[in-house]
Amino acid sequence: LEAVSPGREVLEVLCSRGVVRRYAAEKVDETCIGRMLDAAVAAPTAANKQAWAFVVVRSERRIRLLQAFAPGVLTVPPVLVVACFDRSRAIRNTEGGWDEGLLCVGMAVENLLLAAHALGLGGCPVGSFRGQALSRILALPEHVEPLLLVPFGWPVDPVKSPVRRSRSEVVHDESWGTADGARERVG
Ligand SMILES: Cc1cc2nc3c(=O)[nH]c(=O)nc-3n(C[C@H](O)[C@H](O)[C@H](O)COP(=O)(O)O)c2cc1C
Repeated sequence: LEAVSPGREVLEVLCSRGVVRRYAAEKVDETCIGRMLDAAVAAPTAANKQAWAFVVVRSERRIRLLQAFAPGVLTVPPVLVVACFDRSRAIRNTEGGWDEGLLCVGMAVENLLLAAHALGLGGCPVGSFRGQALSRILALPEHVEPLLLVPFGWPVDPVKSPVRRSRSEVVHDESWGTADGARERVG
């Protein structure tokens, strides 16, 4: 790993991201927003359907209005991205569900958050909101469903790295019930 230092930097970005829920009043410039959105749509997507859509909200008035229906958005950010599932572009799975399309939106949001973190910005995925109210405020068409809100901006506090269950608790080696042996193998 020492030999591939750009790769190491990427790994550091991946492992040091943490949610940011308090933002400075400072604006986020359009170049940063564009780079985050480019990263979002670079995410893997089932059958390359790209069944996603993003509404970028910068108006404080509109953000406050959305916040009234989104208890998960704790403070007013300078920018709020509404990540949506576009049913018209997706295909149902064999059981009739939309799971794969929904997962794609999740992957795109993770890319968005990691890009924000790489740029020194911070954000928080928010699932706690009233979808119908948001759809009305944003004039979303019927086939477009808001799945996650991502408020983001410049962090006020230092970013806390994620606290997680230990790898040995969540990773099974070869089959369920056998502890992960990767640590012993690669150090
Ligand atoms: C699908 C999803 C929905 C979430 N919804 C909310 C939310 O409504 N409000 C909130 O404050 N945080 C929300 N979060 C952020 C989590 O609370 C946060 O990721 C978790 O506490 C771990 O913190 P970390 O990401 O900094 O490690 C959500 C995260 C995910 C993945």
